[in-house]
Amino acid sequence: MRTFRAPGRVNLIGEHTDYNDGFVMPVAIDFSTWVEVSPLEQHKLQIHSENFNEDVEVDLDDQNLARRGHWSDYPVGVAVILERAGHRLRGAKLHIRGEVPIGSGLSSSAAIEVATACALVANSDLTIEKREIALLCQRAENEFVGAHVGIMDQFISLFGHEQKALMLDCRSLDFSLLPVPDNVRLLICNTMVKHELASSAYNERRAQCEAGVKHLAQFLPNVTALRDVTIEQLEQFGRDLPEAVFRRCRHVITENARVLAAANALERGGLNDFGKLMAESHQSLRDDYEVSSEELDLMVNLARKVEGVYGARMTGGGFGGCTVNLVAQEHVEEFEQFVSQNYKQLTKLKPEIYASSASAGASEVKT
Ligand code: GLA
Repeated sequence: MRTFRAPGRVNLIGEHTDYNDGFVMPVAIDFSTWVEVSPLEQHKLQIHSENFNEDVEVDLDDQNLARRGHWSDYPVGVAVILERAGHRLRGAKLHIRGEVPIGSGLSSSAAIEVATACALVANSDLTIEKREIALLCQRAENEFVGAHVGIMDQFISLFGHEQKALMLDCRSLDFSLLPVPDNVRLLICNTMVKHELASSAYNERRAQCEAGVKHLAQFLPNVTALRDVTIEQLEQFGRDLPEAVFRRCRHVITENARVLAAANALERGGLNDFGKLMAESHQSLRDDYEVSSEELDLMVNLARKVEGVYGARMTGGGFGGCTVNLVAQEHVEEFEQFVSQNYKQLTKLKPEIYASSASAGASEVKT
């Protein structure tokens, strides 16, 4: 038996930019999904989920395997896509245990996909580059699960690094590692309102961005994604776009510029500048992209009242889930108390607050 682990993530800045060929800056977190794997004679998967206390068995020769709207879609989807891509898998028994909160915008889905992929690849004596594994996991989510997500979550789950944020160019998949200063903690506040990523809203935003590109490309033939458009070009050539589409495009274009500025700030330890960019990002996600929620806005506003908070914003797809906060070490306790008390009083929901470091990406766990 072998064991593989893949982490969830929190994104510091660069939201809804990945599927626009743009820039993101995620960090792998201390919460992971674990997959124990052992070989089976037959060409099938026997999967046990500890979280759901359920068993699922599928025949990998079955040509009709399809999404069931069930947790097993993730591991089954990964196996199906690996095979579709020409990687012949050995049958496997998988035991899955996840500690990434589900439906909270911390990429429990990428964690289970990546941990499963690493387990199946090893169990089948295959060698596949990490970058390719990330793309195959993304494809599993796009084609099998039906959520048209970008590459960010799967990529960081594989390439996360201790004490570093990853600045990723989602077009070239080139990345650099940026220092997360020691004296700052990443605090993740869970609104306890679940989000549904596969829900139409995410796919609708994506379609609006594509509509924006199609329109702009009539005037700017070199434009293949919003990544290629400047704010001046949007203002000049986007006048006839439906108003909501115009705002969606404006978010993506300004967000890409913010990630570049944020990378620069982090490199020189400029936490105040970084925090300002986080605030602008939240505002743009709330007003232009319209993916925030009352609870996320409240959580961010509460955080900003605490001393020692450099930056606070919603993180992940939105419509619920979590905020990410950069907080000076010595103010962590005060932050936790103030935010959780006030949030509870105002919403009647008891929030969860997780302190995380920037951690390492997926690996085999030697037992
Ligand atoms: C989800 C998706 C990512 C990304 C974010 C928004 O987490 O999985 O690909 O699009 O939303 O930034």
